[in-house]
Amino acid sequence: MLSQIDDNGVVVISTNPEQFRNGDVTFAFRPNSDFFYLTGFQEPQAVAVISRNTYTMFLRDKDPDREIWDGERLGLADAPEALKLEKALNIDLLDEHLTQLMTAENVVYFDEKPCDLDRMLGDLLSNHTIKSLQEPLHEMRLIKDEFETKIMQKAANISMVAHVLAMQYVSPNMFEYELQSIFDAHFVKNNATHAYTPIVAGGKNACVLHYIENNKPLKDGDLVLIDAGCEFENYASDITRTLPVNGQFSKAQKQIYQIVLDAQLAAIESIKPGVSVHKPHKVASNIIQQGLESLGLLTPDEPLSKFYMHGTGHWLGMDVHDVGKYQHNQQHRKFEQGMVITVEPGIYIRKDDKINPIYHDIGIRIEDDILVTSTGNTVLTEQLAKTIDEIETLMNTN
Ligand code: GLY
Ligand code: MN
Ligand code: MN
Repeated sequence: MLSQIDDNGVVVISTNPEQFRNGDVTFAFRPNSDFFYLTGFQEPQAVAVISRNTYTMFLRDKDPDREIWDGERLGLADAPEALKLEKALNIDLLDEHLTQLMTAENVVYFDEKPCDLDRMLGDLLSNHTIKSLQEPLHEMRLIKDEFETKIMQKAANISMVAHVLAMQYVSPNMFEYELQSIFDAHFVKNNATHAYTPIVAGGKNACVLHYIENNKPLKDGDLVLIDAGCEFENYASDITRTLPVNGQFSKAQKQIYQIVLDAQLAAIESIKPGVSVHKPHKVASNIIQQGLESLGLLTPDEPLSKFYMHGTGHWLGMDVHDVGKYQHNQQHRKFEQGMVITVEPGIYIRKDDKINPIYHDIGIRIEDDILVTSTGNTVLTEQLAKTIDEIETLMNTN
């Protein structure tokens, strides 16, 4: 990080605030991704101050009474060695010490979120040059190193196994939440959490892009779209598969599925260093347009957005919709080694008088996680069944 900032710059960053559900009951704590990326520190109530000369962390000191309730704390005495700090200071003294630490520096890198440090920085902000920390930091986060890609592969592996278990478990009349429970259990068993609220959407629910109720029965003859991925060691995976609830795709379902699959495979194929990050969307959109036209579902003068209304992918990393710009100077940027992007085209056909009823309520998305390598790409989620044959075979073997 330090090579990215001015010689006389200082970085100030806090972790996330704790979120209360009600009274003294908290949601599970998740550190702020930027903060964790820089510090590796998982505890709440922490602020890091980093310059070329010093690295200081404000954190909670040990407190035997509180630790009975909330768990063990690293504490001030052990923090310097554990976190490779010069100095550990009590978070209760933040107001008093924060600005003193920074008087020698001219440029302060910080962003108002996740905590409102601007109040404490007070006068310093008017006397110093303020620069956004997120701008250089998010560019760094966009390019994953080997340590990060190994964790992302582990996250992908956990999610792939859960999808296989779900393929083998699903059957007609089961509720969507019963199918979701496969992911809940498998993620917990592997010390992982959901990276985002999962979508388990049977039949027409799959045509609601952000469907998360997951509380309807799955019907014989319908498809079920499952968009579920775990977060492992603070890195996300993001996988979608669409399955026939009874283990057998109908002819109409196969036709639409094959178009989405062809679009997805071609979009993945297009990803390599030097190629515009917009290319996968262009490639996928063209194939979906042609496929829908050949089935008579779309005319050349109708917009593709009637059936395909979202982008083809997003950066993936510590956050499921990860940080990093898609454009530079209003131009799409180019893929670089170490970027990780999802490829997730779909087709969503609602009931409509003008559409042959065999296609009604078909919602299909296929999503994989792609790492850009020096010469092309590696699909982190490659091992998971995806073709019609692979899915049907897996669903019909015990
Ligand atoms: N699961 C969120 C997404 O696919 O973007
Ligand atoms: Mn996604
Ligand atoms: Mn997804």
